Amino acid sequence: MSSPDQSPAPQGPPNLDLYTRNGFSGPMATIVRAQYSPAYTAVEGTYVPHRLDVNNLPDGTFTEGAALPVPLLEGDGVSVEVSRRTGPSGVAFRNVLADELHYVLEGGGRLETDFGVLDLRAGDMVLLPRAVTYRYGAITSPLHEIVIVTASELRVDPENAPGVLNVDLHVDSPVPDPRQSPQGEHRVVVRHGRDTTTYFYDYDPVPCIATAGAPVVRRFNLENVHGLGVEKGGLMPPRLINDSTTRTLLFHLGNRRSDRPPVHHNADYDEVIFYVAGPGHYGTVDKPGTILWTPKGVIHHGPEEEVPEGYQAFLLETRAPLALTAGGRGVAAVMETGQFGFFDGAATAGPAS
Ligand SMILES: [Fe+2]
Repeated sequence: MSSPDQSPAPQGPPNLDLYTRNGFSGPMATIVRAQYSPAYTAVEGTYVPHRLDVNNLPDGTFTEGAALPVPLLEGDGVSVEVSRRTGPSGVAFRNVLADELHYVLEGGGRLETDFGVLDLRAGDMVLLPRAVTYRYGAITSPLHEIVIVTASELRVDPENAPGVLNVDLHVDSPVPDPRQSPQGEHRVVVRHGRDTTTYFYDYDPVPCIATAGAPVVRRFNLENVHGLGVEKGGLMPPRLINDSTTRTLLFHLGNRRSDRPPVHHNADYDEVIFYVAGPGHYGTVDKPGTILWTPKGVIHHGPEEEVPEGYQAFLLETRAPLALTAGGRGVAAVMETGQFGFFDGAATAGPAS
């Protein structure tokens, strides 16, 4: 029997793992190891990182009109959803229990809100706080949106502004438009959780003549968000959307000068990365509309963020433990957590009972 100091030395170069509490803001510690710890050979159970492709959702998934977006990942008060629209919604929506963050993956059209109208285009990120009524008017090109729904109160509050995002120049609000829709019955679908209650009106309840006070609905385009780079070393990605409870945070994760991030043990947050535009590849990922979900506590590395060809991505961090919905499972594949490629080993939902 050998004593510990007589054991063979582990082989391989030193690897650095970063363990963090409270995402990027709490205490951190490093672990030096000979082994590379994200790699796993097989997995059995349901707590597994996945890669989702929203482009693979069947057309029949989307019923448009008064239907809510389709959830792919859901947790306690947080969900990641998608919608597709080819025409006006007809009805208006008002989420009374959650803030909504809408990202326009492709397409364009008019968004009509309590506070005025916005003409949407690809790359737009729109914060629709709870209790704001909105509907879709004319759709100029089929509108494909990713919708993050959270019970938290969100604020557009970029770190390192104006370098990362110039709020004065590149964050805007809807413009009042008093024009009423033709007379007839109007509906507002009030969303409370996954349930809805519909109110009916004999007038158009959405248009406004003017607004005053603090801006409520906020919009910026990802093309005006710039990576926070450093000449040497690594750096946490810059936050774009803040949440005073720290439950749901959004960071920019596009191309930037930086060393590859370290292997990471994120003790408190699920990480959901949305790759939304190329042409550069983010590791193995080259298809806009790819979602990379790593549940909290699953050791991961992730690709280089310095990609000269350029790409756009953002990162949702949430304390809510997420899980795939039935719709999400239909477009999800098990993911390896080095380059976020498809896992090619054995993955099973659990031991046979
Ligand atoms: Fe991470």
